[in-house]
Amino acid sequence: MKHETIFFVNPIIQSYRRHKDRMSQVWHLTRRWFWIYVMDSMNAQALPQVTPLDRGNGIPLYHQIQRQLMEQIRSGALRQSDPVPPVQEIAARYGVSLMTARQAVRSLCDLGLTYSRQGKGTFVSNTKLEKNFRQVMSFTEEMKTRGTTPKSKVLSFRIQVAPAEVRKALNLSAGEKVFRLHRVRYGDNVPLGIECSCLPVWLCPALLKDYDTASSLYRTLELHGVFLMTASEVVEVGRANADDAKLLRIAPRSPVFLFTRISFLEDGKPVEFVKSTYRGDRYKIVNRLTRVRSDGATTP
Ligand code: GLP
Repeated sequence: MKHETIFFVNPIIQSYRRHKDRMSQVWHLTRRWFWIYVMDSMNAQALPQVTPLDRGNGIPLYHQIQRQLMEQIRSGALRQSDPVPPVQEIAARYGVSLMTARQAVRSLCDLGLTYSRQGKGTFVSNTKLEKNFRQVMSFTEEMKTRGTTPKSKVLSFRIQVAPAEVRKALNLSAGEKVFRLHRVRYGDNVPLGIECSCLPVWLCPALLKDYDTASSLYRTLELHGVFLMTASEVVEVGRANADDAKLLRIAPRSPVFLFTRISFLEDGKPVEFVKSTYRGDRYKIVNRLTRVRSDGATTP
């Protein structure tokens, strides 16, 4: 090696050794900007709008990314058969690890909104965003996913002793108190359903005071660090009684869906018991099922 080259290279190696951490940061940033540059210049399915993630609200980062990607599918920014941006780009744009980006993309596949082709990437499937049974969605999220404006009318919101059915479903002791929230839910001002939710008071003691009844219950719970991660829901058919028919603006005895939901915390504790009546003429139940291929890829 020429003398000048050694003279030039040596300090770099020494400085690299001395500032290893800083170098790895530089490498991370370079990689990040490289991907942004590559995706922008190819004008591939780059993420059209990226809202910065909120790192202080307790909502897992992958979930926030998943929601933004869902919104892009809903709005048509990402259309059927479009490739989902590579995880490297998602990681770079949102400033998260590849693992988090992968988790966000995988969760969309789990929901049936996208599918992966081995060696080719992940693509938007032709899912119609209808009542989605594969994710614990709030009414507010469900409406927004459909491009509809949610609204609620509160019929009552109070603390009371848990009725036997609720006590049994939520494993409460005799005399334990619950919040009982009874609402009519509207999409674009059309009454769609009536919901009666019961949650134990210990779950979020400040709920009665803090919950703005015009907003999402699940969102308020999340802001208090409560995440409903799984739910079991039973659907039956029935006929609207006179009171419900009036609230739903349908003829008495019209066909309705009757949902009974129990939602659970991550540790499997049941914390929400909900009985809902939804209009049969407005709701469609769609179950999207995924078969895992023997090579591990998912199909749309
Ligand atoms: C859905 C569920 C209910 C849940 C509600 C919360 O409608 N079926 O069990 O209580 O969402 O909705 P939001 O967060 O919009 O108040």
